[in-house]
Amino acid sequence: MKVSNMRRCVSKFTADWHMCFRNLNFFLVGFVGSSSVSRNFVAERSFSSHAAPKTYASSSAKLADDQTTDNSVSDMLVDSFGRLHTYLRISLTERCNLRCQYCMPSEGVELTPSPQLLSRSEIIRLGNLFVSSGVNKIRLTGGEPTIRKDIEDICLQLSSLKGLKTLAITTNGITLARKLPKLKDCGLTSLNISLDTLVPAKFEFLTRRKGLERVMESIDAAIALGYNPVKVNCVVMRGFNDDEICDFVELTREKPINVRFIEFMPFDGNVWNVKKLVPYAEVMDRVVKRFPDIKRLQDHPTETAKNFKIDGHCGSVSFITSMTEHFCAGCNRLRLLADGNFKVCLFGPSEVSLRDPIRSGADDEELREIIGAAVKRKKAAHAGMFDIAKTANRPMIHIGG
Ligand code: GTP
Ligand code: 5AD
Ligand code: SF4
Repeated sequence: MKVSNMRRCVSKFTADWHMCFRNLNFFLVGFVGSSSVSRNFVAERSFSSHAAPKTYASSSAKLADDQTTDNSVSDMLVDSFGRLHTYLRISLTERCNLRCQYCMPSEGVELTPSPQLLSRSEIIRLGNLFVSSGVNKIRLTGGEPTIRKDIEDICLQLSSLKGLKTLAITTNGITLARKLPKLKDCGLTSLNISLDTLVPAKFEFLTRRKGLERVMESIDAAIALGYNPVKVNCVVMRGFNDDEICDFVELTREKPINVRFIEFMPFDGNVWNVKKLVPYAEVMDRVVKRFPDIKRLQDHPTETAKNFKIDGHCGSVSFITSMTEHFCAGCNRLRLLADGNFKVCLFGPSEVSLRDPIRSGADDEELREIIGAAVKRKKAAHAGMFDIAKTANRPMIHIGG
């Protein structure tokens, strides 16, 4: 892209984002309703229509093949809809070395004072409690998890918990290339790296920092270390990067990466506007026009992504459709935030502290009761994007996705 076009594109996006403030009333206008349950179990089928293919599965079918764990799943992890929660996301820090606009407000966020953040031993104690109760996958998130100084020790200790099958991380990739060999030695098994544009000036505009080259280096370093697939998270925003969709897909031709197009979601302070959301069906439409051989893969029942493969490409392409086709019926996720609050739904505002009872001397049984009660209060599904946009939640940088 020429520099002049680039500037036009960036300034148009800036203008759009400023407009959004004034257009909050737009939330009230109907857009695309979120479907109640939508998950496809269609293996290797040719994708020829514009609309997302829809088949429906009952939640009991979803639960069937997910729950392989060496530890039996405790009732603490089962909600009132029968969903088993075997996946814990732990936010290691509220800090980040980028300032992505979709994640945090320009003025920054209030940071919890360090003494009120979970210490490494508290994280390990809770990790152990969850894993011995049936959790088999932990994902480390942030902020940016790699900036936590004791991340290697945390990985080492978590990865040695009996029954844990996957220790994953979601990172912005800025410092990953340097840290990854050690993290791999410490037991890190899977990697998701955020990357929303392939244009350096747009990267700097969105993240308010430089760094595209370093992220690309991290993706290549991860591939070289044998991570396969390396998942690349791309939040699609109208007027910003929707012109790059096919460029991202093109990356999967030679690289064993899984590019995941994510619908833009509302969080506190990120000036979400439905006009910036590019619905899954529309992104798919553009991909199909350029890559007509795209085929649906079988998704794991608890996955957030709808997965596709293109003939001749060594990587794959996926869509995370939280806003227009949510996947709450298969949800198996729980969240532990850096300040020790426990959150049962990404979009649910309710949280309960696990740090406070730990610091007042609670034993594991008491912690299990608090966790189990919160899990039982989990709602069947999120409230739909317009309600979510109006409900107070935390900024994404505190939740970690
Ligand atoms: P895998 O564990 O590899 O499936 O990754 P993931 O998609 O769960 O995690 P990642 O941190 O890469 O997040 C990718 C996108 O999925 C982000 O936009 C997250 O906010 C979103 N996401 C993750 N978990 C949930 C969830 O429980 N509900 C919803 N609606 N979105 C989620
Ligand atoms: N909408 C969708 N995805 C988001 N992420 C951060 N903020 C948003 C948002 N508003 C993604 C990041 C990261 C993952 C944790 O969540 O790109 O990959
Ligand atoms: Fe940092 Fe990730 Fe948030 Fe961007 S999306 S500011 S990289 S935590």
